[in-house]
Amino acid sequence: MVVCKRTVNDVLHTVDFVHPSGQCMFRTCEQEKGKVIFQLGTADPGRAVKVAQLVEKEVAGIDINMGCPKKFSVEGGMGAALLTNPDKVQEIVSALVKSVSIPVSCKIRILPTIDETVALAKVIEGAGAAALAVHGRLISERPQHKVHIDHIKAVAENISIPVIANGGSVDHINEYADIETYRQVTGASSVMIARAAQWNVSIFRKEGLLPVNEVAKAFLHYAVQYNSHYANVKYCLAQLLRISLESSEGKRLLSAHSLKEICAIWELSDYYDEVEKTLCAQEKELLIDRDCVPLGNSCKKPRLDADDSEYDICELPVRCTKIEINCKEPPKTQLYCWTVRHRMKTPFYQTVSRESDRQFKSTVTVGDKKYSSSLWCKSKKLAEQSAATVCLTMNLQVTKT
Ligand SMILES: Cc1cc2nc3c(=O)[nH]c(=O)nc-3n(C[C@H](O)[C@H](O)[C@H](O)COP(=O)(O)O)c2cc1C
Repeated sequence: MVVCKRTVNDVLHTVDFVHPSGQCMFRTCEQEKGKVIFQLGTADPGRAVKVAQLVEKEVAGIDINMGCPKKFSVEGGMGAALLTNPDKVQEIVSALVKSVSIPVSCKIRILPTIDETVALAKVIEGAGAAALAVHGRLISERPQHKVHIDHIKAVAENISIPVIANGGSVDHINEYADIETYRQVTGASSVMIARAAQWNVSIFRKEGLLPVNEVAKAFLHYAVQYNSHYANVKYCLAQLLRISLESSEGKRLLSAHSLKEICAIWELSDYYDEVEKTLCAQEKELLIDRDCVPLGNSCKKPRLDADDSEYDICELPVRCTKIEINCKEPPKTQLYCWTVRHRMKTPFYQTVSRESDRQFKSTVTVGDKKYSSSLWCKSKKLAEQSAATVCLTMNLQVTKT
């Protein structure tokens, strides 16, 4: 972000922050003004200020990520590394508070003891943060571990800035009414939801959850309108379909490799064509106005990584069947051939088994990324093939055999 340039996109009516390589790193629009909090991963107050000032007119607030356990983050002194570096936390927060005119907040994980967590929260409050989000898990803990409500409660009782309770998806929050209950048990002033919202964003709807296909359609309208990268769209829709990925929509989604193909699954092909036609015409007009040579939708192209998340592993809920893996070219073979063609190291599989039901989960490393299915499989073989399918789905066109 430090080297990005703020660019007004006249075709999409968005503001894009574009990297010198041409990649759009952050895109926002008028409609979401006042709603977007821009989260920074940083270990350097000077650079953090530079980025915050670059985006401050477009966003409602700046948040500092102090919970990301990813290796690249922690090794760079960012994310969860800040939890044990209160001096750096103080420097970053106070530098930002002094330099921007919008609220600055932080998001932390908890420390081993309640006293340590509260002490860190006080440093953040003292540095001038406007709010603090607490994900009630330790750095070493994963979503399947129980969230530590006592830490969130203690923070809420001991600081006077708003505390946002996080970490409740699944165990505590599954529908709208649960949000207020979670707020009350944690004593926080509000609640932040991640996974439950990924699975069905209509969890924020008072009247109750909407069917996933309805949400998928609404989401796709925006994706087309703002020309989202198909891999991002596919990732979000796969989170939404989750348990029904084996449905016909799910199967078509996993093998889709363009936004147009994804639209066809929800019968939005006409909508896609119409928007595409309008955008191309507008782009052409603008280029003629400016006496430019058309470069082929150049100003619409985003490139964001679908798995730009806190977790090292890119996960999709995929479970291969015996029939799928007993074909001529099963996913593992396809993936192997692809890595050979691209002169990459051959895929490396690591499999774990779960004691309770002897189910298996495999992670495949390809290049510098890891892929895994979020579902457990009956055998090691199926788990490896499922991991390979996730990798193929996120990167390549899956060949039907
Ligand atoms: C796919 C994924 C990506 C995430 N990315 C971020 C991130 O960029 N920054 C962050 O502060 N937390 C991130 N998180 C963590 C969530 O914000 C949240 O702290 C965690 O999932 C617990 O909340 P939940 O129980 O509502 O899911 C991510 C979580 C998931 C599952």
